[in-house]
Amino acid sequence: MCGIIGYIGFRDAYPILVKGLHRLEYRGYDSAGIALSNLSGSLSIYKTKGRVSDLEEYCKDKDISGSIGIAHTRWATHGEPSNTNAHPHYSESENIALIHNGIIENYAVLKQQLIRNGYHFRSNTDTEVLVQLIEYIKVLNNTDLFHAVQLALNEIIGAYAIALIEKGGDNRIIVARKSSPLVIGIGDGEYFIASDASPIVEYTKRVIYLEDEELALVSRGFSPKIVTARNVEKTHEIIQLEMNLSQLEKGGYDHFMLKEIFEQPKTLRDCMKGRIDVTGKHIVLSGVMDNRERFLSARRIIILACGTSWHAGLVGKYFFESFCRIPVEVEYSSEFRYRNPVIYGDDIVIAISQSGETADTLAAIELARKSGSFIYGICNVVGSSISRKTDSGSYTHVGPEIGVASTKAFTAQLTVLSMMALYLGHEKRTIDDERYSFLLGELNRIPDKIEKILQSNAAICDLSKIFTYAHNFIYLGRGFNYPIALEGALKLKEISYIHAEGYPAAEMKHGPIALIDMEMPVVAIATDNVMYDKVMSNIQEIKARNGCVIAVVNESGATIREIADYVIEVPSTEDCFEPLLNIVPLQLLSYHIAVNKKRDVDMPRNLAKSVTVE
Ligand code: M6R
Repeated sequence: MCGIIGYIGFRDAYPILVKGLHRLEYRGYDSAGIALSNLSGSLSIYKTKGRVSDLEEYCKDKDISGSIGIAHTRWATHGEPSNTNAHPHYSESENIALIHNGIIENYAVLKQQLIRNGYHFRSNTDTEVLVQLIEYIKVLNNTDLFHAVQLALNEIIGAYAIALIEKGGDNRIIVARKSSPLVIGIGDGEYFIASDASPIVEYTKRVIYLEDEELALVSRGFSPKIVTARNVEKTHEIIQLEMNLSQLEKGGYDHFMLKEIFEQPKTLRDCMKGRIDVTGKHIVLSGVMDNRERFLSARRIIILACGTSWHAGLVGKYFFESFCRIPVEVEYSSEFRYRNPVIYGDDIVIAISQSGETADTLAAIELARKSGSFIYGICNVVGSSISRKTDSGSYTHVGPEIGVASTKAFTAQLTVLSMMALYLGHEKRTIDDERYSFLLGELNRIPDKIEKILQSNAAICDLSKIFTYAHNFIYLGRGFNYPIALEGALKLKEISYIHAEGYPAAEMKHGPIALIDMEMPVVAIATDNVMYDKVMSNIQEIKARNGCVIAVVNESGATIREIADYVIEVPSTEDCFEPLLNIVPLQLLSYHIAVNKKRDVDMPRNLAKSVTVE
């Protein structure tokens, strides 16, 4: 949600901030704004509804001088996207400018108190309440801004990453975080602050990740001073970023999503690199091996995730239950956290999150921690909050995923889950040596098989044109492919805005089949696995009602080719690895339908990449 960038140094801040906003735009993109402080001591805010490019247009005739600045791209929570609700927000006196990512839950009470004390509000945001509160406390206590921020944050309930600058504010930016990420980039005589490292990496690879409930005073010429809200001084290790700039560019593709779909053979090889040993006979997954006894004696596995990561978790259930015979529950983090769930001390909790910042998953982890269970994270973003809040974990190592619709992170999540389950199944002897090494060999061949599927891109693009104007879609799959039906439907609705539902194929006759007619495309995953004949019967039922079937099939699928209206062929593999292949044509189909409909594929309406509010 919302992207934050700040700069203090010897260069002009504006171009750095605008470039940073472009890099962060995937986090939220309904409005954008910038605050600049310049040598004459002025503090100017420019902001507008719309994209970062609209902000650039708006700033064309403005004074954009200044080597200190903060900027923001918004995903609205309180108050519609508008010029007024865009960040930064001024305090009453217009001496302080603040940007914020997160939600101030007790904003309404605070706002009333401030109004009673003569403060006026221009926007409908919770953020404006915070900047006003800071100024109120500063004046009341006759103190400096840093101390006022510290005091104000003790009054706040909610989540925040904030950055503030002050008029004539003698060369400093103040930042703070709680449950929303914030990174400080350390350059040579200059500092960068941001919601994530993506806008920083082209200037410096040295960063500090602020911890929860910490504030930092970032001043020109001094090391950042970091303290807790209770004024305890902290020092943090400087982390070396491994990200590189080309990972943040489209590299000749029209959209990040297409680039990321096409990257999957490489990202899966990267994900397996060093984890399946050179002989291809052993899995070396240190996070699991270091905690082998805990995993082997687990009473149960609880998987916590949201959205696409939750779909990966569902496939994970099939992996763990079939390879290691450990019962698995897959929970929406948002439900789990408020459900008073039964958690045993000998449960293993696996939290899956691409961004590693999803607020609901973070809160669900906190709840699980209270029960004493061991918590394992599967994250993509190195150094993210979830990766730091879990006891151990595995990174997916796919590089930055910029497209809001998750693709390469999903297939890597499946790969990590399959390696975990295979390793544990082998250790438990629920998989024998022969099957183990056969499955490892097959997992190793998946990237080559995805390469083959990607060669069908043009054919899938042609197929997509037939369905551009469909209003609804149904996706069906069974067994390992049931979660893929859900994920295929999610991809389509996220980026094309076509209504789509995924079902386990046999559930159709219990209700959804009522929807079937000639106007209803049904995407059926009908690859040649143990459920093939069953899926075939389900498809026959749809054809008998004039449904239009697009089937994902293997070369061997003679019957399905006769029945289906359209087929997309994928290479065959073991049943358990089919999700890794079968999702790829569905990603491409969604992508092309969305492009045909002229949708903004990488930044679909109403969504944001990193959901840091509940
Ligand atoms: O970063 P996370 O994996 O925790 O995010 C969870 C969901 O918000 C995310 O998967 C969302 O559903 C994506 N837009 C899917 O494409």
